[in-house]
Amino acid sequence: MHYPLRTIQEDGDAVVILDQTQLPRETAFVRLTNLEEAARAIRIMQVRGAPLIGATAAYGVALGLADAADDARLARVLETLGATRPTAVNLHWALARMNAVLAPLAASARRQAAWDEAHAIARADEAANAAIGANGLPLLAAIAQKKGHPPDPLPEEGGDYVGQASPVRSERAGAVNVMTHCNAGWLATVAHGTAIAPIYAAHDAGIDIHVWVSETRPRNQGLLTAWELAQAGIAHTLIADNAAGLLMMQGRVDCVIVGADRIAANGDTANKVGTYLKALAAQAHGVPFYVAAPLSTIDFACPDGAAIPIEERSADEFGVTDGHVANPAFDVTPARLIAGIITERQLVAAAALAALRP
Ligand code: MRU
Repeated sequence: MHYPLRTIQEDGDAVVILDQTQLPRETAFVRLTNLEEAARAIRIMQVRGAPLIGATAAYGVALGLADAADDARLARVLETLGATRPTAVNLHWALARMNAVLAPLAASARRQAAWDEAHAIARADEAANAAIGANGLPLLAAIAQKKGHPPDPLPEEGGDYVGQASPVRSERAGAVNVMTHCNAGWLATVAHGTAIAPIYAAHDAGIDIHVWVSETRPRNQGLLTAWELAQAGIAHTLIADNAAGLLMMQGRVDCVIVGADRIAANGDTANKVGTYLKALAAQAHGVPFYVAAPLSTIDFACPDGAAIPIEERSADEFGVTDGHVANPAFDVTPARLIAGIITERQLVAAAALAALRP
């Protein structure tokens, strides 16, 4: 089991989310009861991470159709949710999927159908991420073999690790050293995570693993990753974003695995700002750089990275309210820097993404 709870759960006519603006200081839950609350939760990043944003948007449609479900209302609900965050394509993918199911139905049938479809989207995300973990595991197992440390025997039980005070070690000789950026763990998804899913799978398989967790300025999503890994008893070390190049130069990174917010048809990948610099450093030092994402993150309508909209967020995130601040929240890593994309179906070369086109 690679997550202690689902990040979004149905509760009668509402959904309950884990408020990520409070983590890792506090574990607080918020009940979303209507469209506006769902849209706000996405906008202010109470929920975040492309797959979880998509699932929340789907439930937001169900919440938004509580009182009326005619064509005008459906259009307004889709528009409101669609305007919350621009880069993570899972949001727009989920809304398009909801619309495709709901639009042909009579208004009276839409409300229940919306709950059913949102439920299906959430469950599919959970299954996809579990498969990403399984598909990424051989990469880490191969590194472990090469380093001469075959996996230990399987631990007796995966188990629920919430609150367990496992001894969390840091970098040490022989471990597989993976670097990640932002948070692409279970918090960023309905369950399991994307980039962190293979790490959980490797840990469960007894592979000695250590994770370099990049802080991820300005929102510090790396702290969420460090929190997740601590909960799971996985060795990790938090680093400033700018330390990544040095660690790669010193040979202390075996591979990089990051998540994605939108992957263009040619394999160019938008992810949290700072990802591109890690990919450049990885190329310079011969460190393989992988992207892990569900198929719902691939935007085949988007030809290349230049067509991916980049969210510009508020200067407040720097702790200043005036002055000259640019705050692009994402950057684009060109396909040529990506060794492979780990999806729920298979590991593919970025250049061969077309094989996964539906
Ligand atoms: O702005 P956020 O926190 O919603 O950013 C999205 C992300 O969580 C990351 O970019 C992540 O690496 C990809 S989503 C699993």
